[in-house]
This record gives sequence, C-alpha cells and structure tokens, in this order.
Amino acid sequence: NIKLFKLLKDLISKENQIIRSLTSSYQNSYSNSIILKLKKYSEIKLIGMGGSTLGARAIYSFLKDKIKKNFIFIDSLKPKNDKIKNKKSFLNLIISKSGNTLETITNANILVKKNHKNIFITQNQKSYLMTLAKKLKAEVIEHKNYIGGRYSVLSEVGMLPAQLLGLNETKFKRFNNLIKSKYFINELIYNVSFISKCVLDGKKNSVILNYDENSENLFKWYQQLTAESLGKNNKGIFPIISSMPKDNHSLLQLYLDGPKNNFFTFFAVSKQKSNQLDNRNLFDKFSNLRNKNLDQIVQAQRIATQTVFKRKKIPFRSFEVLKRSEETLGELFCFFVLETILLGRLMRVNPFDQPSVELIKTETSKILT
Ligand code: PA5
Repeated sequence: NIKLFKLLKDLISKENQIIRSLTSSYQNSYSNSIILKLKKYSEIKLIGMGGSTLGARAIYSFLKDKIKKNFIFIDSLKPKNDKIKNKKSFLNLIISKSGNTLETITNANILVKKNHKNIFITQNQKSYLMTLAKKLKAEVIEHKNYIGGRYSVLSEVGMLPAQLLGLNETKFKRFNNLIKSKYFINELIYNVSFISKCVLDGKKNSVILNYDENSENLFKWYQQLTAESLGKNNKGIFPIISSMPKDNHSLLQLYLDGPKNNFFTFFAVSKQKSNQLDNRNLFDKFSNLRNKNLDQIVQAQRIATQTVFKRKKIPFRSFEVLKRSEETLGELFCFFVLETILLGRLMRVNPFDQPSVELIKTETSKILT
C-alpha cells in the first residue's frame, strides 16, 4: 500500500496531461457559445468507435431519467435505421481522435450529408475526417492529441455530448475534491491492492455483477478501459459484464462452483422510485413479498449473493451508488481511470497505448486494397 500511495502521489503531482483533463482546470477546446447554438437540436447521431463514443454512451444511459433528448449511437459497422423523427432539429456529431478509423469513416460516408448540421471532434491534423469536415464546411472541435480515446470522457469527447444533453459539465469534474478526500484515496488504494492480489493469485477474470440496467454502458466503457489499457505483454484482466439478477439463472452456478479464476465487482444503484408489488395477488407462500417493491427484491438478492460469496470465500468488492447524478458518475469515471493507471504501473505495462489493435487495421487495409 505504501508503494501504491507513492505511485498515486507521483501520478497526481507530475502534471500528467491525461490526469489534468479530469480536473476542473482543464480547458475544453469549445466555448459555451457553441453549446447555445446547438441547444435547439433535440435528436443527435453520434458517430464514432471505442473511446470516442463509450463515455458519452455511459453518460446517456446512466442519467437517462434526466435527459429529454434522443441520442442515436452509431458505434459499429452496422448503420442503424434512421430513427430521426424531426429532421429539422437533428445533428450529426462525428468523433474520432485519429480521423482515420475505418468504421467511423465508413459510417460517416454513408450517413453524413452536406445538408445536415455536422460537427466533428478530431485531432488537429490531416485525416479523412478533417478533409470531409472541410469539404462540408462543418465546424471542427479539436480533440487534444495527448488524450487517448478511453481516457477522454471528461474532455470535449464526453463533455460536449453531455452538455448537448442538458447536463451540467462542471458537476462531472470532481477530481480536485476527490483527491483531497482521505476516504476516496483509501478506497482507491484498497481496490487497486485487492485487484492486484487477485491477479497474483491467478484470478484474472474480472466479473462485474451489475444490478443496475442503466449502468450497463458504464461498464462497457470500463471494459474497454481495462482491456485496452492492461491487456499487453501477456498480462491483463479479462472484464466480463454480467446482468443481474438475470444471470442468477444462467451463470451464477459457474461463478459459485466453477473454476476459481474470477474476482467479482458487485454494482448497484439505489432507486428512489420502484414498482410496488400488488399485495392482493401474493399468496401465503410468498407473503414475505408483501409491501415490497422491485428494488427491495433486487437488493435482497444482491445481499444474499454477497453472503454466499463470503461463505464460499470468493473474492469480491462492492459498489453501492446512493444518488444517480453527474457528480457520482464523474467520481466513478475518475475512480476507474486512476485504478486502471495504477494497475498498469503495478503490472509494468503502459496503460496508454494499444499496439496490437493496429495489426488488424493494417491487415484489413491490405485485404481491401
Ligand atoms: O481508446 C482508444 O484509443 C480507442 O478505443 C479509440 O478510441 C478507438 O479505436 C477509436 O479511435 P479514433 O478515436 O481515432 O477513431
């Protein structure tokens, strides 16, 4: 733990540019006037891959109850049917750091038209998307070249979409307060050391038992963050997302009695509103369900599962979010980013590159040529 405290101190004090992008002093490369100008668009197509969309998607799903706009994410090579209802108030947001990602340029080629309102977020360099933006006379917002996709959620890549969704950008930026909190730092160190011990014990599958449907995309973001940052030099953690309580009836048996090569993360969000059960239809055998709501049942299942895990000595950690808000989500982003970088340092891998992803790009290009 002393080593971890030192690594963390180093990371925070060394003016790491990625870390700076998490703080409130980070300057976005767009101004508020662009948000005001784009406010009228109620339907937005976000075109991008991996780190260029996963953060915005996590935000959109986690805070869905607060959001009135309709976002469509085009994040695979399968352009979705155009579900745009109001063609006049629709905007294309094309995000790619490199400006040359095959899937993004293919989707943009098919979906982006000159008569649409188009905004590009891309690095300030010559690329396919930069050329397309110029051709369309579209506005370009700079994607800073030092922020890799999976670390970009609190930069313009995640914050511009968040602001277009009507969310408060400053509320996400909790880093400065968090690193002053002993509780946050201790939890961070505890979690990194817990995961590191699991990995040393040969438990390299990180199974996320997610009890909150709206957090599914947060864990898709987390999955990419850990997989691409740590999966190198024959090292890494394999992040698996399990939807609970659904997977009680498919995977739980394996988790409990199968090979002991997993560690688990329980994740739940307290719900203010939840469907109440109808007491009139609860017969004697199920009288313990009287006056209960859906959330109480799900939480009972979660606590019961943790009790059984403890009994079986299966390693796990547990997150319980009390308030669904920009602040909480900002805190989770910072927590997982710091956790991943610290794990990278402990595992002696560079958490910021992804050398092997390039191999597929080169081979695909050869086949298409
Ligand atoms: O985290 C990363 O760097 C990657 O997942 C990229 O975000 C992804 O490959 C898309 O790249 P680009 O933003 O250059 O289109």
